[in-house]
This record gives sequence, C-alpha cells and structure tokens, in this order.
Amino acid sequence: MTISPLVHQKFTSRVDELFLDELADQLTEHGYAILDDVFCPAAVASLRAEFEHPDCRFKNAGIGRQEDFTIARQVRGDRICWLEGRTGAAAFFLDTMASIRHGLNRRLFMGLFDYESHLAYYPVGAFYKKHWDAFKGRSNRVLSTVFYLNQNWRESDGGELLLYDRADKTLMEAIVPQGGRLVVFLSEDFPHEVLPAHRERYSIAGWFRVNTSTATHLDPPE
Ligand code: OGA
Ligand code: MN
Repeated sequence: MTISPLVHQKFTSRVDELFLDELADQLTEHGYAILDDVFCPAAVASLRAEFEHPDCRFKNAGIGRQEDFTIARQVRGDRICWLEGRTGAAAFFLDTMASIRHGLNRRLFMGLFDYESHLAYYPVGAFYKKHWDAFKGRSNRVLSTVFYLNQNWRESDGGELLLYDRADKTLMEAIVPQGGRLVVFLSEDFPHEVLPAHRERYSIAGWFRVNTSTATHLDPPE
C-alpha cells in the first residue's frame, strides 16, 4: 500500500503589527495604501492556481444591479468568481484579510464588519472603465482592496490601475498590477479605472464592509 504523503504547504505573509501600523498610517495620510510583497511567492502562485480550480465557475462581471450584460461589456471585461476559502491558499488569504480587518479596527476604529472578495480575470484587451466602488450612504463597502497575482508584469503589459482624486480631477497613482502587491483605498473617495491589459491579468478584488443592520434588514452575525 502506498501512503501518499500529506503535503502541507506553508504560506506566509508579512502582515504583522508593524505592517498594520504602516497600512493605517498610509490610509490616514492619503486615503489609500500600496504595499508590496504582502504574501510569499508560494501563496501568490497558489492563489493564481485557484483560477484553474474546477469549483471556480467564472461569470462575466456585472455593474451594480445592472442585468444588461451588453452594457456591462462596454464598462468592464473581467470575469469573476467569488472567493470562498475552500483551498488552503484561499483560506490563508481570507484569514490574512481578517487580520488586516481587526488591525485596522483597532487602529482606526473603522467598525469593519466583514470582507467579501472575488477572483478577477481580465482576458487580453479587457478593461474596467472609471467607476466608484461605493457611493456615500448607498453602500456598506467602505474599504476596497486589490491583490495582484501577476508574475513579472512589465509596464508595457498595460493593465494599470489608475486612481484619481475625490474631485475626479487629478490622477493620483498609476499602479502596475505586480504579483504580491496589495492596494487598499477608501471606497467612496477614489474614482478609478483599469486600463486595457495586453496580457492576461489576475487579481483578487475585495471590500471590507460595515454592518448596516436596520429594523428591516439584518446583516448576518459575524
Ligand atoms: C474592481 C476594481 C481594480 C483592479 O474590481 O472594482 O476596480 O486593479 N479593480 O483590478
Ligand atoms: Mn473598483
């Protein structure tokens, strides 16, 4: 009888108290943060492999409650699959985002209640036109995150994330979707867009949410 060895893949991140201080400082000062090499290369590679997982059924991304995917196609060309943490890498990613959530709540009293995220695949030529992730008083998404899974992305590969200021006048950052890089920004404050990518582009987009329970609508308990 052959006993297949149990393979324990050890994933690491650099999310510790110092990292959380740096993230909180950048958010306080600018409203956004860009942090590199947040997860180890093995975690990045395994998260990238999630896109091939048989349970992951990608669908064309929509826009808000917009059901008309013909219109949605003119706005965004990514394909998405919600992340549920069934594999070790996905669970590690979600655990780490929970640590970030707790760390930010402790430092900035943001009252972040949960985190939702999806894998996003941009085929060659796909883009996401300028948009806001949330509008004041109309969403419980308060903090957006994007984590990139692309190895050796070059500037000539396109696909940058452009962040504009709140008044939508000034370009603040053109962010290359480099593997291991985490971008975090206040969802209501930054219009942003994804330029067409000349190479397949892989990322995990997510949102920290606040609890918006009312008498008629109860958010699920944590
Ligand atoms: C989004 C988004 C940015 C990126 O999914 O809402 O803006 O760089 N993504 O992938
Ligand atoms: Mn967005």
